[in-house]
Amino acid sequence: MKTTKNKEIKSANLAQKIIDIKKEKNAILLAHYYQIPEIQDIADYIGDSLGLAQKAVETDAELIVFAGVHFMAETAKILNPETKVVLPDLEAGCSLADSCPAYDFKKFKEKYPDHIVISYINCSADIKTMSDVICTSGNAVKIVESFPKDQKIIFAPDKNLGGYVNSVTGRNMVLWDGTCEVHDILSTEAIINLKANNKDAKLVAHPECKAQVLALADFVGSTTAMLNYTKTNESTKFIVASETGILHQMQKDSPKKDFLVVPTDETCSCNDCRYMKMNTMQKLYDCIAKEKPEIILPDEVIRQGREPINRMLDISRKLGLI
Ligand code: 13P
Ligand code: SF4
Repeated sequence: MKTTKNKEIKSANLAQKIIDIKKEKNAILLAHYYQIPEIQDIADYIGDSLGLAQKAVETDAELIVFAGVHFMAETAKILNPETKVVLPDLEAGCSLADSCPAYDFKKFKEKYPDHIVISYINCSADIKTMSDVICTSGNAVKIVESFPKDQKIIFAPDKNLGGYVNSVTGRNMVLWDGTCEVHDILSTEAIINLKANNKDAKLVAHPECKAQVLALADFVGSTTAMLNYTKTNESTKFIVASETGILHQMQKDSPKKDFLVVPTDETCSCNDCRYMKMNTMQKLYDCIAKEKPEIILPDEVIRQGREPINRMLDISRKLGLI
């Protein structure tokens, strides 16, 4: 009991220290919804990948502290090259980004010379430099639809999101065979059982889930879209087929509603993203204090990577998505 109390005081002190040092250094803390609750609660902005990219463009802070994973911090650096960008743990990678190595993707792309490349933002900076336009889960359908129906397209790296976009738009994009280890593993069987035992619950799912899971969902959308749906939908119970971090904000926004996560087997917490959860309050404080580890990218990568991201932001602005 005493130990729990001590831990709470220590965590509250650390939270205050982070808030103070942020102010002192004119730093902005951008956090993804999959971060631990303590980090979400002190962030200057919490968002999904689209919102975070937009904030990275807008900010005039002297230091961008990115509580998320490596590809997100890289995106912030590409969009704001004059500003120092730090990530609490450089090892915070992403299985989806890792599933698409630059060399292999270059070879793959060469097989389809008349195709343009639309890449999901969850990819490395090198893949971004090989892309014509970037998309996020929040705008993928609209970005694809902004191209003529007969435009040949390679979609990388998430085959689940790409397959979902194909099914919604009637396109036949060539898909890179990559997945997110968190969403792809969610079990259809467990979801069917959960639905059977909670007939009043609505199933919300992230489009990185398998097609069989998406087929069962009442709503499919990005992290922010799912949050809005649970806030505004009249139902009071939701099954959430996504990463567990999102529940913190869902519960905060709708304290009287119930949220159920898809169960995983006893040997793993598979719906916790192990990369997102590498960032801790202590690492966060240290990285602001020491201003490292810093994201460094070659100028050429920044220059080439910025074009497809800006194209996405322009299309999103024109369509009123941001
Ligand atoms: P969004 O933030 O675009 O919903 O993506 C989810 C995700 O997996 C981020 O890594
Ligand atoms: Fe990558 Fe999936 Fe983790 Fe998002 S949840 S960072 S896509 S592994």
